[in-house]
Parts: sequence; structure tokens; C-alpha cells
Amino acid sequence: MPQKKVRKAIFPVGGLGTRFLPATKAMPKEMLPVVDKPLIQYAVEEAQAAGIEDFIFVTGRGKHAIEDHFDVSFELDTMLQAREKSDLLSVIRSWMPSPGQISYMRQMEPLGLGHAVWCARNLIGDEPFAVLLADDLVLSKTPCLQQMTEVHAETGGSVVAVMDVPREHTNRYGILDIERDDGRLASVRGLVEKPDPADAPSTLSIIGRYILQPQVFEHLDKQEKGAGGEIQLTDALAATLGSGPFNGLRFEGRRFDCGDKAGFLEATIAFALSRSDLAPAVRDIIKSYVDA
Ligand code: UTP
Repeated sequence: MPQKKVRKAIFPVGGLGTRFLPATKAMPKEMLPVVDKPLIQYAVEEAQAAGIEDFIFVTGRGKHAIEDHFDVSFELDTMLQAREKSDLLSVIRSWMPSPGQISYMRQMEPLGLGHAVWCARNLIGDEPFAVLLADDLVLSKTPCLQQMTEVHAETGGSVVAVMDVPREHTNRYGILDIERDDGRLASVRGLVEKPDPADAPSTLSIIGRYILQPQVFEHLDKQEKGAGGEIQLTDALAATLGSGPFNGLRFEGRRFDCGDKAGFLEATIAFALSRSDLAPAVRDIIKSYVDA
């Protein structure tokens, strides 16, 4: 049976970004640039490549820079047009979703990722949807969400992007309990948020890319708090198990945790090295430090 197409995506951007203070005192974490592009733009472009048509940002206080980034900058446009800088006009415009494709929902209180997703329930309605966390950045040949929508078109149900992590790190992630595993797709029978390494049912962890079914909102409606006193998306997903297929996809590519300083710096180096205009200079810079 053909699966319903994934047309809508939620971008939860309501977090406080405390690990990046003072940079995030007045600027949203999602606007931190990796090389020359803010994290949130990478996430939106990834969603566009996967065929997403509706972009829903769940925001909070102090996130206006995100709205401005996805809006026409009249002064800049006019100035670049007057100076006939068509290449720069394309840099600031070509990736923008069309008018009417973006909506903003205020989370009001940062009560957790599950709560942020729940805030978008009325904009999602009764269809599958994607969730992308901009601070998880993936460098891959095929955009990560596109890899997932291709799986979803075959399997339906829920699909989460997963990767193996060192066992001592299981307490940082949502971890899968696996029923079957063919090395690429793992069929999920259980989920645990941030288990102690000794209790973790596997080392396969969920990264910030999800394709979910609207039934998850029934569980989020209960507003139950989980690990860290937050309303956890993983707990609501665990409650949907058994209601349809649920697969973890070992995606092709490399994921960087840009919510963490070391992960952010690594992403900056990896993305710079992936660009032909920057790679030679960056390689020389790195070499000069390693040789010193
Ligand atoms: P994090 O766990 O990284 O939290 O959220 P954070 O507040 O952004 O950052 P730190 O830990 O204080 O440094 C993961 C994702 O979920 C979103 C964040 O914006 C981020 O994209 N989130 C988290 C919300 O939208 N609302 C929340 O209540 C919590």
C-alpha cells in the first residue's frame, strides 16, 4: 500500500542553549553558523531536499533572529540589486521557502522536546510528519531526511535516524531496544531515554531526525514528565510501539552534535574541509597547529 507522503516538518527551536552561553544570551543557538550558514538553515535545506512543503518552527523568547533569517531583508536586497550583486542575492534568497510555507508556534515554556513537538499538533493534523533538531548536523551524500523518507515510503510507520554510540554515552541519548536488525534497518520493540550504560538495551541511539505518526500526540497530550523532569519525545514514542511499524535507520553520513562545543568545532572543521573553496587553506591551518 502506498504510504502517505511526509509533507510537514517541525523544527523545535525553543531550547535555551545554556551550553553555549554567553554566545546564546541574545542569539538563538540555532543561528550559530557552521562556516557561513546558520544551523537552522542546514536543517531547512535538508528538509527541502526531502520534499517537505510545510516548515513549522516551535520557537520561544529571544528567537526573532530565526524569523528574520527566513524573511526578505528589504534593505539588503535593494542594496545588492543596486550594486548588481546577483550572486549574493542568490546566497540570501535562493534557499528560502515560499511565502505561506513557514509557520511559527511559541512554546511559551521550554518544558522539553516532547512538549515542543506537542505545541505544533494543530498544525500537523492527521498525517505523518518529520522532526528535525537543527543542533544535530549531518554531513552525507544523500541528505539524512531524504534517506529516511525513502525508507518511510516502503515501510510506513515511524522511522528514526540512529547511530551506534560508545556504551558509556548511552545516558546522553534515546536508546533502542531492537527486535530485528539487518545492519541498516533495525526494527524497534522498545525505547529508553538516557539509560545508564549498565541498563541500556543496546548502543543504538536516536539522533535528531524523526518521521512520526500523528498518534504520538495522544501520548504527548498526557504531558508526563520523564528523564530530567522534561516532557520527553522518546517516552511518547515508546507508548506508540505496537501500533505500526517502527524502524531505526543507520543513515549514511556523519552526525555532529552542535549543541556541544567540541561537536560544534568538529562540524566547523568537517564542513570547511568538505568545501573546495576552503579545504586547502583549512588543511594548511590545521597542519600548522598539529606541527607546532
Ligand atoms: P537540548 O537538549 O539541546 O536543549 O534540546 P537546549 O536548551 O537547546 O540546549 P542546552 O542543553 O541548554 O545547551 C534539543 C533540541 O530541542 C529543542 C532545542 O531547541 C533543541 O533543538 N527544545 C528543547 C525545544 O524546542 N524546547 C524545549 O523545551 C527543549
